[in-house]
Amino acid sequence: MTETRPPLPASLDDVDGWFPKVDQRLFTWFLERQERLGQPGDLVELGSYLGKSAILMGRHLHDGETFTVCDLFDSQAPDASNQAEMDGSYSTLTRAAFEANYHAFHDGLPEIVQAPTSAILDHVRPESCRFVHVDASHLYEHVRGDIQAAHVMLPAEGVVACDDYRSEHTPGVSAAVWEAVAVEGLHAVCVTPQKFYGTWGDVKEVQDELLEWLGDQDDLWHEVQQVAGRRLLRVKGRPAPKAPKKDRVRELKERLARAEDQRSRAQHELDSVRNSVSFRVGRAATALPRAMRRRHPH
Ligand SMILES: C[S@@+](CC[C@H](N)C(=O)[O-])C[C@H]1O[C@@H](n2cnc3c(N)ncnc32)[C@H](O)[C@@H]1O
Repeated sequence: MTETRPPLPASLDDVDGWFPKVDQRLFTWFLERQERLGQPGDLVELGSYLGKSAILMGRHLHDGETFTVCDLFDSQAPDASNQAEMDGSYSTLTRAAFEANYHAFHDGLPEIVQAPTSAILDHVRPESCRFVHVDASHLYEHVRGDIQAAHVMLPAEGVVACDDYRSEHTPGVSAAVWEAVAVEGLHAVCVTPQKFYGTWGDVKEVQDELLEWLGDQDDLWHEVQQVAGRRLLRVKGRPAPKAPKKDRVRELKERLARAEDQRSRAQHELDSVRNSVSFRVGRAATALPRAMRRRHPH
């Protein structure tokens, strides 16, 4: 039997995963800001799935920098609760599928650590990174370890992004993220509906620059809140603006025309079915008396 492979993705939208547009914009902003400020460093992603966020991160890799992704892919999880997560959400995931997707956008692959994220510090040196994406297990103990590892891998000006910090089904992530803020000196830069962005370095400067940029982005909404006396930016996407009334009328007319076209095609099919049925019934009606006459001649 020949194996059927899914078609290769042509754009990030074609890659399955969990990476909303607002976070794509923010990853790009944080990574480009570091490039602008001349802050080189390696990139790390803990939890890559089919590569949606890794593909974008890989676009910002410069000569001399390393991008390391760490994921279990099709290996066993280190404990039963983690295995239950894997079976529930990522049961069809394979490393080959990640690699094929990544290759569709980049010539080379990142460094791949196919292992529990608890092994990451065996592969990445302390303070060698500029950006770490924490998006692997959602269990408190694991996420806590992943954030601690991010703290080790990042120098002060580095940025950590944590996924699912507020989802109803991931209270362990919330606990680990806010614990790092409350006790481990992590400063919250901003939050989106899905991700938390923080730094162990100077938060004021990065927030000021982010606010300035956000002011010019028509597709992004933001507000500033004070949380426990510290500034926190909330950012989310704005719904796409509605088309002007004239365009809407034209769109409605086109939809109406398409619906009318479908209706008339359906009517045509119905008529031809009716005609063929009545033709057959007619034929049967003439054939039956003849057959009866043949069987019972008077
Ligand atoms: C939410 S997905 C990652 C989504 C991805 N970043 C994206 O943009 O679509 C979580 C990934 O973490 C991996 N994972 C779960 N537990 C892990 C663990 N303990 N160590 C390493 N990877 C793990 C899963 O295999 C899965 O691919």
